[in-house]
Amino acid sequence: MSYGRIHNFGAGPAVLPLSVVEEVRDALPNLNGSGLGLLEISHRSKTFQAVVDSAVARVRRVLNVPADYSILFLQGGASLQFYMSALNLLHPGDAADYLVTGTWAQKAVKEAKRVGDAKAIWDDAPNNFKRVPKNGEYTVRDNAVYLHYTTNNTIYGTEFHHLPDSGGKPRVLDNSSDIAGVPLDVSAHDLIYAGAQKNLGPSGLTLAILSPWALARGAAGLPAMLDYRVHEKDGSLYNTPNAFGIYVLERVFAWMEANGGLEGAIARNRAKADTLYGELDRTGFWRPHAEVASRSVMNVTWRLPTEALEETFVKEAKAAGLDGLKGHRSVGGIRASMYNALTLDSVQALAAFMRDFESRHG
Ligand SMILES: Cc1ncc(COP(=O)(O)O)c(C=O)c1O
Repeated sequence: MSYGRIHNFGAGPAVLPLSVVEEVRDALPNLNGSGLGLLEISHRSKTFQAVVDSAVARVRRVLNVPADYSILFLQGGASLQFYMSALNLLHPGDAADYLVTGTWAQKAVKEAKRVGDAKAIWDDAPNNFKRVPKNGEYTVRDNAVYLHYTTNNTIYGTEFHHLPDSGGKPRVLDNSSDIAGVPLDVSAHDLIYAGAQKNLGPSGLTLAILSPWALARGAAGLPAMLDYRVHEKDGSLYNTPNAFGIYVLERVFAWMEANGGLEGAIARNRAKADTLYGELDRTGFWRPHAEVASRSVMNVTWRLPTEALEETFVKEAKAAGLDGLKGHRSVGGIRASMYNALTLDSVQALAAFMRDFESRHG
């Protein structure tokens, strides 16, 4: 691989398209012919404003965001959105319901509890988060203002492949680890947020998409940095933004548009997932974590017969140029993250390594 790059299965920050990395390199000394470097240019300059405008337009096109929805670039990661979303949408005495399908959803409901009556109405912790709920397995409370869920559970490797029933209430979505990688109906949600460091760009940048309802819900007197309306009013430039991150995100969306848009990404991700799950299902040696119907296209998790073999797998894989395969400490085992920029070639290299590993250790 060029530049000595190895196969990067890391969960985030994650692999970016090489062409984007090269564009970033070229923009460092001189952004778009301005004579000013990407890290050195004012966020109030015309050159940078054009980057922001283009980023918003591309996100709107690629994700098919309705014209009256707002697209914001924020900081603080998805973790800040756990609290900020509740702070803006929940008023005193209000309730909100959460589908707890993994560690991140647990954190989301915990933060929302600081604001109002947030409740886990479905929680798979006793089953060690092997699946997501089907419609009909939970009931959204009458007084809930919204239903919050997490499309893809980065740590456990489960994913919603349907739009969860919200009992007619607005949906709030943590879309961090599969945004722009799987089908998404933005118009069926009122607030979507995602840390950029998986499918969209570098860490330190958060994308938020809000319906007019979500924007208008913000109570008066919120701290400025936690008030969506403040950021919306100033076009994500209320304070100094992560200018570098916005530039990279704009380039990632340009790369998507040049490569078949969202449909292209979905097809490539499907092919990668079919390759890896095909290998996992070929023999009983591998023990996939997620139930089949809830398997994630983006993060695939599995165990081996012993922890010692898992350690050997990660070590030998690394030596073979396959990095980032150690499972999250709360699940153990192996995790292969296959975000948009990971190529099928990398997944085929992993599958070949797995066949060889099994023939030697199986
Ligand atoms: C689904 C999900 N939500 C939230 C987070 C936390 O994101 P951040 O580190 O941007 O706060 C992560 C990080 O991996 C994640 O995968």
